[in-house]
Amino acid sequence: MKHDDPFKALVLTQEDGRTQCGLQDLTIAQLPAGDVTVKVDYSSLNYKDAMAVTGTGRIVRDFPMVPGIDLAGTVLASSAPDYPVGTPVVLTGWSVGERFWGGYSQVQRVRSEWLVPLADGLDSYKAMAIGTAGLTAMLCVMELEAAGARPGAGTVLVTGASGGVGSVAVALLARLGYRVAALVQPGREAVHPYLMSLGAAEVIAGAEWAEVPKPLENQRWTAAIDTVGSKVLARVLASLEYGGVVAACGLAGGADLPGTVMPFILRGVRLAGVDSVMCPAARRREAWARLGRVYGETPFADIAATAGLGQVPQLAARLMAGNNRGRYVIDVNG
Ligand SMILES: NC(=O)c1ccc[n+]([C@@H]2O[C@H](COP(=O)([O-])OP(=O)(O)OC[C@H]3O[C@@H](n4cnc5c(N)ncnc54)[C@H](OP(=O)(O)O)[C@@H]3O)[C@@H](O)[C@H]2O)c1
Repeated sequence: MKHDDPFKALVLTQEDGRTQCGLQDLTIAQLPAGDVTVKVDYSSLNYKDAMAVTGTGRIVRDFPMVPGIDLAGTVLASSAPDYPVGTPVVLTGWSVGERFWGGYSQVQRVRSEWLVPLADGLDSYKAMAIGTAGLTAMLCVMELEAAGARPGAGTVLVTGASGGVGSVAVALLARLGYRVAALVQPGREAVHPYLMSLGAAEVIAGAEWAEVPKPLENQRWTAAIDTVGSKVLARVLASLEYGGVVAACGLAGGADLPGTVMPFILRGVRLAGVDSVMCPAARRREAWARLGRVYGETPFADIAATAGLGQVPQLAARLMAGNNRGRYVIDVNG
């Protein structure tokens, strides 16, 4: 590919304080500095991408910006010894798609320290069906395990279960042998069969989850993965079993936490925060290697739908409306 050959990218601009999103032709010469140029096969759509594309929450501050916090593809040009031309690579996080140009582009130039080699058991499509959401789900599972969670020891609750992180967390925990309860918002009965098909043992959707809990509720879960925050996380904490642990990674329901310290000081409950964006390289590689081993044979078609770059704005609005199901792989060449 020559430096002035055009390729397609989705570009965010700002007009009168409003974020605009459109397809543009770019050339390699226009890409930012970096030691590795990647021919992108796929990106994906995460909650943060939806925020960026819809201009919600000032995720993007510098314009023009190519969004897309994930990408998977093949090295096209490189001065990094660890990533010679032809290496299949994956990139998630590191503020790519927020502060640095990201994956919604047929070609992108990045820093080699942001990359991980494609893990055994995965291809670039599977890697993006997993993406930041799935990596985060695995990092949450690793936190639960580090706190002593084991299959057969009780029920693990996943909140925001039909979303991207939630869907992969349900499927992953079920594959690892855990008994999984999937919490969904009321009125989302249509996703119940989907969650059972991913391996949930039960689907939960009580109206009480929209209320602030008592300081201590009945003990129901041995562990939990929370993608929702706010009253939902407060209720998870109040209803964990003695010594239980919740891995908290999301704020789909709000960034507040309206609870008390009672679960911590009377039940020894633990709250483990999970961040995938700045997660150190060694832990990322460990998580991706496990995803390749445990999750590589998952029937991805059940969880992930494929869309083109031009469909991203419409899908982003759907995610922001809070009624997503599963994952979207973005075929940047489709
Ligand atoms: N810490 C990290 O590194 C990291 C990485 C990835 C994502 N995240 C965060 O994790 C969260 C989920 O991300 P995602 O990509 O899975 O998003 P997503 O696909 O949009 O899923 C979010 C799910 O949360 C539930 N939900 C949405 N609004 C809600 C509300 N008001 N109250 C209760 N439940 C609500 C819905 O599931 P149900 O209908 O099934 O309840 C929805 O499908 C986001 O906050 C995201 O920013 C964090």
